[in-house]
Amino acid sequence: MKHLFSPLRLRDMTLKNRIALSPMQQYSAVDGIPGQWHLVHLGSRAVGGAGLILTECTAISPEAMCTLYDTGIWNEAQVAGWKFIVDFVHQQGAKMGVQLWHAGGKASSKHPNEGMKPLPLEEGGWIPKSSSATPINAHHPQAMTLQEIQEVKNQFAQAAKNAIKAGFDTIELHAAHGYLLHQFYSGLINKRTDEYGGSFENRIRLLVEVVNEVRNTIPDEMPLLVRLSAVDYSNEPEAWTLADSLKLTEILKDSGVDLITASGGGFVQVDPSIVKPNYQLPLATAIRESANMPVGTVGMITDAHQANAIIENSEADLIVIAREHLRNPYFAVDAAIELGQTPDVPWQYKRAY
Ligand SMILES: Cc1cc2nc3c(=O)[nH]c(=O)nc-3n(C[C@H](O)[C@H](O)[C@H](O)COP(=O)(O)O)c2cc1C
Repeated sequence: MKHLFSPLRLRDMTLKNRIALSPMQQYSAVDGIPGQWHLVHLGSRAVGGAGLILTECTAISPEAMCTLYDTGIWNEAQVAGWKFIVDFVHQQGAKMGVQLWHAGGKASSKHPNEGMKPLPLEEGGWIPKSSSATPINAHHPQAMTLQEIQEVKNQFAQAAKNAIKAGFDTIELHAAHGYLLHQFYSGLINKRTDEYGGSFENRIRLLVEVVNEVRNTIPDEMPLLVRLSAVDYSNEPEAWTLADSLKLTEILKDSGVDLITASGGGFVQVDPSIVKPNYQLPLATAIRESANMPVGTVGMITDAHQANAIIENSEADLIVIAREHLRNPYFAVDAAIELGQTPDVPWQYKRAY
């Protein structure tokens, strides 16, 4: 029977277990280059036994950043910074993926310690670009031109090339949480009247084109992951729904996507009363069953038995853990012990086990 410590194979990448470090922005990079903080943050979760280490959302261009402290992967210095970390993660027996991202209309923000408000032009900010000029929180983006959309596709492809150079095992496209790709597929934001707006097919066009660009750039053996906001958590008639996600994921699967992680929201405040253990699991399970493809689940998973039950019940294939990993970098090692498995600890630490 499958369990949390059964390997997971996606194309030629085999994860030693079903536990992933969820992407978490650290706002600690200089010039988009991951540094000492990122080595320790990502490296210690690899030492702690997670099978897959995902980077924080990593910008494909300077304009794609949310804050000036985000990581990037558009130049050689950034590639070298990532390679140093990827090599360390590999030494721990984990695989590593980069989450490629464009913040779109949420770009040009201040550091969270300064309240994350829009960063004005006179303080080094830039004009955020989105599907439309629909305001997002305090941001007032401009609609992208067709030429700018083409540039974004090229930048995703170039970022994928850079990810290969840095030694990443996989790529996750960040198409969730109210960022650019989500700003196109959600009718809450996308008010375009050209071929990138209006109908379902038009609103998903950019995401599907980016998937095709990246899939055509990376080797066949390399798996491609996508993080979606499977629902907008909004009752507006234009909001994205699970039914939309089920239609989209069939198309993504046919375009060569190997695993979808079902997250949610990004434009409206989520009702805190629904945020409970496994609250996003039904979204993942629905996609898994309808598209017949592997899925990751994320959101309020904090316990070894909880995580193991999801795998044993075939409700999801990968357990993606964010905040519990901040509290406990050794989540995977501790979970192995709790579930009666042999923990995979580095030889340097063996005397403790
Ligand atoms: C500090 C922090 C930073 C985050 N940054 C990202 C990110 O870069 N990309 C992303 O897809 N999600 C990001 N998230 C969302 C998490 O990956 C995850 O989906 C969310 O926290 C729910 O999972 P959890 O209950 O295990 O924390 C972030 C969450 C936190 C707490």
